[in-house]
Amino acid sequence: MKLLVTGGAGFIGSNFTRLALKTKSDWEVTVLDKLTYAGRRENLEDLDDEPRFEFIHGDICDEKAALCAMEGCDTVVNFAAETHVDRSIDDSSSFVRTDIEGVRVLLEAFRREDRHLFLQISTDEVYGSVEKGRSNETDQLAPRSPYAASKAGGELLAMSYWITYGVPVTVTRASNNYGPFQYPEKLIPLFITNAMNGEPLPVYGDGLNKRDWLFVEDHCNALLKVIEKSEPGRIYNIGAGQEYTNREVTSSILEVTGTDRELVRYIEDRPGHDRRYALNVDLIENEIGWKAETGFDEGIRKTADWYIENRAWWQSIKSGEFREYYRSMYADRLKNSRGSI
Ligand code: NAD
Ligand code: DAU
Repeated sequence: MKLLVTGGAGFIGSNFTRLALKTKSDWEVTVLDKLTYAGRRENLEDLDDEPRFEFIHGDICDEKAALCAMEGCDTVVNFAAETHVDRSIDDSSSFVRTDIEGVRVLLEAFRREDRHLFLQISTDEVYGSVEKGRSNETDQLAPRSPYAASKAGGELLAMSYWITYGVPVTVTRASNNYGPFQYPEKLIPLFITNAMNGEPLPVYGDGLNKRDWLFVEDHCNALLKVIEKSEPGRIYNIGAGQEYTNREVTSSILEVTGTDRELVRYIEDRPGHDRRYALNVDLIENEIGWKAETGFDEGIRKTADWYIENRAWWQSIKSGEFREYYRSMYADRLKNSRGSI
């Protein structure tokens, strides 16, 4: 199998690329990545001596780059995206461009030849906020943030290529991932690294929003199985069934980092903040034979250990352009914050 992994220098893409090369001895992987603020070449540098690995710096919206990178590949796994909800609320333009138009460009390049599979990595956010029960793959989509709406557009476009042209497309919708190499703008790595620095942990609203936390390696294992076993035209939810409120996640982070609760601050909420996501994963369990293996207690410990052991990785991010992002996103809200759990 020869894979093109787009967005492979980001969080999930780099974990996926490493796992694919480690566990599939006859697979080759080419990564195409624009190296936006979230994509880091160093996330893959341990693979540079691997002859089955190649890195190409380029944009999925660039037709030539997409065609060139896809040469000889039978499978495309599209992780490339703008991914942070808060940034999409600030400016949605790059989200529409990469998460919708980028998917179109890749699909057009893909369908020039007969290939095995186009795997579009989507998200549980396309279902919108789920107050009760669990989302099934057949549920109506109701995205509520510009990020979620762009991801819904991308996966609908991908599925339309299956229906219209018979392009072999599979869509996966995963829940919130956490683990090594996650950019420290997202809840878990932000709070772990802030705790390590003795800085405030800014919880949005009342902190009772719930997410289903999936350890990144479990997600990547699910994707490897989907590539080998999925029929085209299928959609699979991927979740771990480990639902926690943001308060509970924060408490776990305080515990694994040995941090005082005084650092916890409640700040003004995210606009349109989805209250809860929850997935029914019966389909992937029954058809593909995958189940998450990592419990949240184990996963959060492994994650904290990784950030403790890789301080240089996140310190270099946090000392760069991230500082201005953090100031604009949090400074005023922290001034008006309330304290402790
Ligand atoms: P990330 O932000 O860490 O990485 C995104 C990667 O895409 C970066 O390497 C970036 O440089 C690259 N990229 C962005 N625009 C590009 C472009 N135009 N051309 C080429 N490369 C580009 O994201 P992540 O958290 O690893 O998410 C990966 C995928 O999984 C995304 O599609 C996301 O929507 C989806 N997803 C993420 C989660 C999660 O919890 N992180 C959950 C479900 C689904
Ligand atoms: O559900 C899958 C999605 O999970 C992915 O598709 C997205 O790419 C990914 O970013 C993630 O989206 P969320 O918005 O759920 O993740 P985030 O880490 O930004 O926030 C998780 C929860 O924590 C959410 O309820 C908002 C809250 N939060 C987040 C930050 C950054 C805080 O309370 N404080 C914060 O500073």
